[in-house]
Amino acid sequence: MDEGVRDRLAVALDVDDLVAATRLARSLAGHFRVAKIGLELYTAAGPEAIGVMIDLGYDVFCDLKLHDIPNTVARAARVVGELGVSYLTIHAAGGTEMLRAGAEGLAEGATRPAGVLAVTVLTSEAEVAATRDLVAERMEVAFEAGCAGVVCAAPDLTATRHIRPELIRAVPGIRLAGDSVDDQRRVASPVQALAAGADLLVVGRPVTRAADPVEAAERLHRSLQQ
Ligand code: C5P
Repeated sequence: MDEGVRDRLAVALDVDDLVAATRLARSLAGHFRVAKIGLELYTAAGPEAIGVMIDLGYDVFCDLKLHDIPNTVARAARVVGELGVSYLTIHAAGGTEMLRAGAEGLAEGATRPAGVLAVTVLTSEAEVAATRDLVAERMEVAFEAGCAGVVCAAPDLTATRHIRPELIRAVPGIRLAGDSVDDQRRVASPVQALAAGADLLVVGRPVTRAADPVEAAERLHRSLQQ
């Protein structure tokens, strides 16, 4: 297994029970460094899901997309930090003060290196034409607030490449040729996304809903080794 490729990959464990998530995560640990726990799994299994993924050797990406008053976000982020996560998402739309409160809260609680990833624009939120300026603007906000990185769609990477290059770019909507697009609106192949400047590729259904998830993960790796 190519460790360099594995380092860049996050598997989105979008299922509603911890037994299924654990089974998937155990079989895919050789292919993905990061396990993303989103609202569905977190709502079903809570902090236990985070502990299980850490025990399996994953860095945990806690995708809670927080958006609330700064004090509430800071306090929640501190608790998430104590659970041992490596990444926590917060909506950049919440503004600098809220993001900063979250970044500080996470750092205060963190039991290992951890950073906030600011969600720039939801694919469901904006017209594509209006998106790029907003993504750029929110990247600046994320940087000013002390975030470690941002979540953005692959088509926005090139135009925003010059903006705060030190921010980690986490990119969902990754599809290989022949994969179903599902509800993703703005997709790219793994090679395209990395070439455009992605640091972490978030891959869900093309692997987790495949008839053979390990085979799908191997196909993903092979596409990046050519
Ligand atoms: O589509 P896939 O299952 O690979 O999605 C991986 C992640 O992409 C999801 O966990 C979700 O956070 C994100 N997503 C997105 N835009 C959509 C659908 C999903 O960014 N339209």
